[in-house]
Amino acid sequence: MNDIQQQTSFDLSNRKRLRFYDNQPAAEDILSEVISGLSQNQKVLPAKLFYDHIGSKLFEAITQLPEYYPTRIEINLLRKHHKEIADLLDNDVWLLEYGSGASLKIRLLLQAIKPNCYVPMDISKDFLLSSSESLIDDYPWLNVYAACVDYSQPVRLPADMATSAQKLGFFPGSSIGNFAPHEAQIFLQGVRKTLGKDGAMLIGVDLIKDTQVLEAAYNDCQGVTAAFNLNILHNINSVLGTQLNADHFEHRAIYSEEKNRIEMHLVSLMDQIVNISDANVTDSPAKNIILKAGESIHTENSYKYSKQSFTDLVEGAGFEVREHWSDEKDYFSLFYLSCC
Ligand code: TRP
Repeated sequence: MNDIQQQTSFDLSNRKRLRFYDNQPAAEDILSEVISGLSQNQKVLPAKLFYDHIGSKLFEAITQLPEYYPTRIEINLLRKHHKEIADLLDNDVWLLEYGSGASLKIRLLLQAIKPNCYVPMDISKDFLLSSSESLIDDYPWLNVYAACVDYSQPVRLPADMATSAQKLGFFPGSSIGNFAPHEAQIFLQGVRKTLGKDGAMLIGVDLIKDTQVLEAAYNDCQGVTAAFNLNILHNINSVLGTQLNADHFEHRAIYSEEKNRIEMHLVSLMDQIVNISDANVTDSPAKNIILKAGESIHTENSYKYSKQSFTDLVEGAGFEVREHWSDEKDYFSLFYLSCC
């Protein structure tokens, strides 16, 4: 549980409009997650480890790629429909964003919704801080309560956030697709609790489409997605002091029509043994992991939905679909859900 109630908060640089809650996962938790993931039959790594500072920058670059259509379409949908979205909401709104990254898309909503408070949640602390600071500079009327959390864990808001304001959750970028469907449902059930009974949710969903279009979006010509995928190894090295060599792996992204998901892998280019321990801690648990040439570490999935399959999913989590908007090719959809 991300009990941001228990966290010390501080006002940064006397700027009372910005508060910061730090609940970043500790290195010990990361070590045990990495060891247990790499000990499975199909090796896996926790996808949240993509998002260190470099990873967050690389992800920004992915969103600009010609092949990566989701961001562009979602931004167009937000530009086109922000007034309708604002009309669906009460006057007094708190806006919570799950995985805020550089907080760029939120700018398309802030002016239309004018929330009392914006609560960005992200695991990348320096990204969170710098984007929050630039938001309070650019929106002089806005309060920002930034929370450095692993948002896939339930979030309990601080007591002084118990407000009668309506809460709108914002979860763009089809990040919901990075959960397996049953986990997505559990995640949304938790979000529904946080948002309360008048809550609403605006969520971006990538739709099922032609395999070629999907695979191109995760195998760009410039190799940015490959660099992003490989950066998870650099991040693990910098957190744990391990010696994973990114040159000994290659990026692979393939679409499974059976499972409706893009699968991201790092494929070992050779037989290798990697030692996983926390080099910064004496007596840290350690494990030698054996990788054969051609064996892969599964780093991420990106599930794709139809409008109907996504509607079924959210209904099972206690939401109802009030509106949805998509582009003319039906590549990507923005859903407005209300808690029921
Ligand atoms: N939410 C994004 C998506 O599923 C995340 C993403 C884009 C991603 N490209 C990636 C994750 C490459 C891992 C590797 O589209």
